[in-house]
Amino acid sequence: MDFLRITQSPKLQGEVQISGAKNSALPILTSTLLSKNPLKIHNLPNVADVNTLLKLLGILGAEHEKFSANHIYIDTSGVKETKATYDIVRKMRASILVLGPLLARFGHCEVSLPGGCAIGARPVDLHIKAMEKMGAEIVIENGYIVAKAPSGLKGANIVFDKITVTGTENVLMAAALAKGKTTIINAAKEPEVVQLCEILQEGGVQIVGIGSSELEITGSDGELLDMKDIKVIADRIEAGTYLCAGAITNSCITLKSLIPHHLQAVIEKLEEIGFGFEIGEDSLKLLPAKKLQAFEVRTAEYPAFPTDMQAQFMALAMQCEGVSSIEERLFENRFMHVSELQRLGANITLRGNIASVSGGAELKGADVMATDLRASSALVLAGLIAQGETNIHRIYHLDRGYEKLEDKLISLGAKVERLREE
Ligand code: UD1
Repeated sequence: MDFLRITQSPKLQGEVQISGAKNSALPILTSTLLSKNPLKIHNLPNVADVNTLLKLLGILGAEHEKFSANHIYIDTSGVKETKATYDIVRKMRASILVLGPLLARFGHCEVSLPGGCAIGARPVDLHIKAMEKMGAEIVIENGYIVAKAPSGLKGANIVFDKITVTGTENVLMAAALAKGKTTIINAAKEPEVVQLCEILQEGGVQIVGIGSSELEITGSDGELLDMKDIKVIADRIEAGTYLCAGAITNSCITLKSLIPHHLQAVIEKLEEIGFGFEIGEDSLKLLPAKKLQAFEVRTAEYPAFPTDMQAQFMALAMQCEGVSSIEERLFENRFMHVSELQRLGANITLRGNIASVSGGAELKGADVMATDLRASSALVLAGLIAQGETNIHRIYHLDRGYEKLEDKLISLGAKVERLREE
């Protein structure tokens, strides 16, 4: 197993290219189950989660060819298998994204329940209820969601009690092939959901309200879609993580190939802390701060501050003057990075879902353990400023979502090495 060794790094400088968004790539890949023709996907991030999903689609019978690291050609016409087994789903919760498309196309499927998750219970009850509302009969048997809709899915009025990103995406894909109109009230508005809407629309599905919390989808009544080639949008969370790498070292760095307005909440928070920006059409330059001020942050659904940036801002708070307050409102137990940051010397107190971080503590390198994807990136950021060496173990969590992490950091001047555990 690999680990990362990070040595306290001087100021960073230079440019970094942002990859395609993992969270957009995943629903895009499962949406190809709805396509009657093969298609190309460009700007696909070469990360473990994407490769896990490609493996799952392969087991179902899809064929793909990688014509370079970030471009694939995918053909789902040969899919016959409709069971997503535990051994794959347990590796990646987002495998639940096959539920809507498989059920819509075949009228039946079995998807393993994702099971326990490091960042809280994360149930899939809202996905299941929505499919039932659309006419599916669902039972849970031996740890599997066994779903049947022998006479096809029907349009329905879905009201989500909670905003769910993958839940909204599953309903969108199911509704695309259903009979009649589906409305989704309290839909997620994340850019990744918007991209999925646009792709389905290009494939011939009528969708009203794209980008809003009320969507109306007119289904094709079982007919597969005429989907076109797709370019995955830039990863706003990867971009936000590099901004934090620049910020924690108070550097001037430039991000390329991103969509700056997707990062508005993150940019505003960094401005509040003291940083400046030069915002281009697809680039973003971070300008150093005279002084880093403590801040308050509360995570919420897009366009508010993303939960997927909470851990990175906690690392950044360690460099700010005063006490910062970070409230996690989406997931229980998403503070596993706290104890690891404390191993480096961070001064953090936790009360329920609020962390208070006193800036200015002296940080010293240590051995730390990655626990989930975004928690791990907070450790990388902390490693950049901790004295001496920080060894981050279990970095497969980072490999799930960050393409060429160490290459990109090294190109900015960070001292990072990937080593093999003895
Ligand atoms: C997606 C993102 C993840 C991000 C999260 C919140 C992908 C692949 N992953 O995850 O990176 O952190 O959105 O922005 O896009 N909930 C239920 N029942 C359900 C579904 C969700 O109670 O059936 C709850 C969850 O436990 C959580 C909240 O709803 O408290 C939001 O979760 P959700 O938006 O569904 O997260 P994911 O789609 O899994």
